[in-house]
Amino acid sequence: MSMPSDLERIEQRIDDLVREHLAVPDAEIAASCRDVLHEVATQAVVSSQGGKRLRARLALAAFDAAGLPVTSQARDAMTDLACAIEVFQTAALVHDDIIDDSDLRRGKPSAHRALAHQTHSESIGRGLGLMLGDILATVSISIANAAASSLGNPDTLRSVFLGMQRDVSVGQVLDLAVELTPLSDPARLADASLNVFRWKTASYTTMAPLQLGLTAAGTDPQVAGPLSERIGKPLGVAFQLADDLLDVIGYTKNTGKPVGGDIKEGKRSVLLADALALSNADDRSELIDMYEAPSRDARQVRRGIEIFTTSGAVELSRERIRKLWAQAGQAIAEAELPQTSRDMLLEACRTFIPDSCL
Ligand code: IPE
Ligand code: MN
Ligand code: MN
Repeated sequence: MSMPSDLERIEQRIDDLVREHLAVPDAEIAASCRDVLHEVATQAVVSSQGGKRLRARLALAAFDAAGLPVTSQARDAMTDLACAIEVFQTAALVHDDIIDDSDLRRGKPSAHRALAHQTHSESIGRGLGLMLGDILATVSISIANAAASSLGNPDTLRSVFLGMQRDVSVGQVLDLAVELTPLSDPARLADASLNVFRWKTASYTTMAPLQLGLTAAGTDPQVAGPLSERIGKPLGVAFQLADDLLDVIGYTKNTGKPVGGDIKEGKRSVLLADALALSNADDRSELIDMYEAPSRDARQVRRGIEIFTTSGAVELSRERIRKLWAQAGQAIAEAELPQTSRDMLLEACRTFIPDSCL
């Protein structure tokens, strides 16, 4: 039998950890309610499956790149801490799919839709989805808490993990606030959207994984924090720009999400802001009408994609991504780490930007 890959190990460990930290004794639950609880528990496991695990892998790469001597017990604890980030990500996505009214996640029905299907009730499905998100967030803290005990700087790790969760919640609030931004001032919309990316994405996608990995290996927290921010902030913003760009130029097969989903949703995005700023007057007013309407049909979604492309917004997004990626690369090059460590970090960070977005 061949050795399991890093990805397979992470996937298996997430499954085990979620089951272990979720365990609720059946004997304490009224028999008539057990089935629903089991559906939620099953959904906790199912919705945790199948991510790309970019965040866990970055955290582990940062741990190794710190270049400090660590025991194998500590490396295992770091794997658990990395898995905790992934479980938190699933929690955030379960809530996000309710907020965004999304049907599909990781190529499967979103958790609240699956729960609505099983309970034959839209509103109970949504309620259970909210609670599932809470449960997974709590489980992620429980996993991180246990892992931190066997790692360097345990108190810092715990507070960074909680700070990460707070930042993402703040980001989701700001993301909704952006929906109220008028379309008449594209520059302001672009600024506000880019600022949201720092909170709703860079926080837990790149900044925290870097900081947790470096700190857990024993790096001085005063060094790990600022370094993670210098690398992780531009990288995370670039990652979200790429995610939004793939929504327009990608395929469901690769993203696990419907193409043009953000346009269908009427999402205020950097791409939209750039398209409004760059397009001709006719296209601009077509876009504004489209986004001010309560919903958009398939023809309008195709038209939106077309205007995003012909206006130059798609190309400008690529340019934004290239610039941010260069900033992240610069921060890695300037890090006071051995060359092999910098190489390791650069390789791990590069996986966040798909080739088609550069
Ligand atoms: C989700 O943001 C970010 C989280 C904090 C979970 P989006 O709404 O932009 O992400 P997708 O497109 O649904 O994955
Ligand atoms: Mn979403
Ligand atoms: Mn969202």
